[in-house]
Amino acid sequence: MTDFRLPELYSRVSQIIPPPDWMMFEEDVEAILALKREKNAVILAHNYQTPEIFHGVADIVGDSLALAREAVKVDADVIVLAGVHFMAETAKLLNPEKTVLIPHTGAGCSLADSITPADIALLRAAHPGVPVITYVNTSAAVKAASDICCTSGNAVKVVESLGVPKVLMIPDEYLARNVARETEVEIVAWHGHCEVHELFTAEDVREMRRAWPGVTVLAHPECPPEVVAEADFSGSTAVMSDFVRDEQPGRVCLLTECSMSDNVALDHPKVEFVRPCNLCPHMKRISLKNIRTALEEGRHEVTVDPEIAADARRAVERMLAV
Ligand code: 13P
Ligand code: SF4
Repeated sequence: MTDFRLPELYSRVSQIIPPPDWMMFEEDVEAILALKREKNAVILAHNYQTPEIFHGVADIVGDSLALAREAVKVDADVIVLAGVHFMAETAKLLNPEKTVLIPHTGAGCSLADSITPADIALLRAAHPGVPVITYVNTSAAVKAASDICCTSGNAVKVVESLGVPKVLMIPDEYLARNVARETEVEIVAWHGHCEVHELFTAEDVREMRRAWPGVTVLAHPECPPEVVAEADFSGSTAVMSDFVRDEQPGRVCLLTECSMSDNVALDHPKVEFVRPCNLCPHMKRISLKNIRTALEEGRHEVTVDPEIAADARRAVERMLAV
């Protein structure tokens, strides 16, 4: 370990990253740490980022809700969002005067792509007077057309905060149906799906229980409802991580994106992780190399049309107030 330029940092990830890989990463990690100081920049990283980003260079990590909350408190000139585009847009909405960068413009999301403001207009016409709750995994234009946002970490609370018998919850059909099981409020859903979580099946869970006796199965609420029903517990990425921290299950499986287990496992070496995971191609477009370039060249700057920014910000801030 003494051959490494950043031995202390390596000790945090050595259970997951083999020495030759870390040696390839070190130069970029070192450069990024220096660039952050030079540019007065912070890196916000989602739980699905790979361990060399999550544990190596990020300043703030978490689920979509935590990243939105922390974005408000950031005291830096530049925010680099190691995650997907809607997360960077949310950070920009909450920090209009700061520079927000996304390292790769192709880091999108199948849920964000599943709905437009015109679709919301049609839904409102079909359900007059019913409030629209929009998952944060959407464009700023869709948020602007909504009444309030939610994340997987606060969806039930947001639904119940409105004090109405019926809501529209868009665009994730499965999140809406999973939330519907936890509230008396009637929920009308849209037909968007997460391309990563929709791949899990109830049979996967049953097979895993046969192969790994005693395993505790945690499912993200973007999974189909029959998968959540087979799991022991469901929650956002941060809630799953807290569950492992607090309950210390002997053997656990996180039905979500692959890097999540790597990142949580590093903090809980005594817990055995079973890993039938799926990769998010959008999250995986972010790398140390393009984070470094983002900081060096100030790209790709995220902007939000001022005509929609005020309404989109209102929907996000209303959620943060719940
Ligand atoms: P959370 O981190 O909010 O649970 O969201 C998961 C997700 O799929 C984000 O892309
Ligand atoms: Fe979107 Fe699913 Fe990827 Fe999250 S995991 S960014 S919801 S496609």
